[in-house]
Amino acid sequence: MDRQHVSPRVSALRPYSPGKPIEDVKRELGITGEIVKLASNENPLGPCPSSIQAVQNRLMSSHMYPDAACIDLANVIANKLGVDTNQLLFGNGSDECIHLLGLTFLEEGDEVVTGQPTFVLYEAAATLAGAKRIGVPLTEGDLRHDAKAMVAAFTEKTRLVIIANPHNPTGSIITKSDVDYILEHLPSRAYLVLDEAYVDYIDANSDFPFAIDYIKSGSPVISLRTFSKLYGLAGFRVGYAVAAPDVIASMQKPRSPFNVNILAQTAAIAASGDDAFVVESKNVNADGMSQLTAGAEALGMSVVPSHANFILIDTKRPCREVYDSLLRDGIIVRTGDIFGLPTMLRVTIGTERQNAMFLDALKTAAAMVPSICA
Ligand SMILES: Cc1ncc(COP(=O)(O)O)c(C=O)c1O
Repeated sequence: MDRQHVSPRVSALRPYSPGKPIEDVKRELGITGEIVKLASNENPLGPCPSSIQAVQNRLMSSHMYPDAACIDLANVIANKLGVDTNQLLFGNGSDECIHLLGLTFLEEGDEVVTGQPTFVLYEAAATLAGAKRIGVPLTEGDLRHDAKAMVAAFTEKTRLVIIANPHNPTGSIITKSDVDYILEHLPSRAYLVLDEAYVDYIDANSDFPFAIDYIKSGSPVISLRTFSKLYGLAGFRVGYAVAAPDVIASMQKPRSPFNVNILAQTAAIAASGDDAFVVESKNVNADGMSQLTAGAEALGMSVVPSHANFILIDTKRPCREVYDSLLRDGIIVRTGDIFGLPTMLRVTIGTERQNAMFLDALKTAAAMVPSICA
C-alpha cells in the first residue's frame, strides 16, 4: 500500500457541492450588477441583528477557548424546549450532528433508511461509517415521504431512519400518523432521526409532529435543529441534537471539544431571544412564498406546496437550461437534476425585491427555453 492510499470509505464519498458562490458567478460570467443567491436556503434578511451586536461585544474574548460544553447556550435552549441540558448536543452546524450520528451509531454493514431524494449529508455519514443508505422514493406527484414503503425497507440491519421534516429538497412534511406508523414498526436497534432544520417556519400550534414531543414521551427519536435558517446564522455554524440523555452522552464522545466557536455560541444565544426577528423572518417568508407561487403559476409552471423557506418549481423545461438563463441574469438557484428532478428548480424564498428579480429572470428563461410538456 503506498503513501497516497486513501481509506475506501473516504474514496467512496462524493464531495458536497454547495450553491454556486456569488463571486464565482461574477468572475465566470463577467456580471458587474447585482447578483441574487437563492440557492442555499439562507435568511434573505441577513443575520439576526441581536447576534451581530452580541458578537461585536464578544470579539475581545476571542483569544480564549470557547466553553466546550456550550453551557450558556444549552441553558437557553433547554429552557425554551422544556428539556434538560443533558439532552442537548451542539455542533458546527447540524451537519456536524449528522456526522456524529454516523460516528456514534453506525458500523460496517448497517443500513440507514431515508427518502429519495433527500439531503445529501445523510449519505456521507453512512458511507464514512461503512454503512449503506437505502433511499426510498418519495410519493409521486406530491413528493412526500412514503411511510409504508420506508417501513417495507426496514431490515434487522436498519440502525437509523432519517427524515427531514420539513423535507429538503421538497419542502413537504410528514404527518403525525405517518411518524406514529414508522415508530410502531421501527426495528428494536434503530432510532428515528427527525431533521428539523426548517421546523422554525412551522406554526407552533399546528398538528405538526414535533420531534420534541416524541422525545419527551420516551420514543427512540432524535431531533436535529439549526440556527442557519430562520435565525440567519448559517455562517456562524451552530446546530444541535435533542434526544434522551443516554443518546446524547454517546454522541458527545466523538465530538471534538471546541467544535462551536465562541462567537457562534454568543450569536446563537442572542438570536434565541430575538422574537421580533423571528416574526419578521416568518412573515417575509410567508409573503415571499405567495409571491413566488403566484409568479411561477402565471408562467404556466407548477409549485410543490412547501412548509420551509424554499420552493420547488416545476418549470416544465430542462432545468439546466433554465438555470443557465437565470445565471446570465445574475440569479443563482439550485437545479432539480441533482435530486433526480430534471425539470425542477429549488428556489430559496428571498425578499420581495429579490423574488421579483427572480420572477423577471424566470419569465425571460421561459421565453427562451421551450416547454417539454405537450
Ligand atoms: C435538511 C437539512 N439538514 C441539515 C442542514 C444543515 O444545516 P447546518 O449545518 O447549516 O445547520 C441543512 C442545510 O441546508 C438541511 O437542509
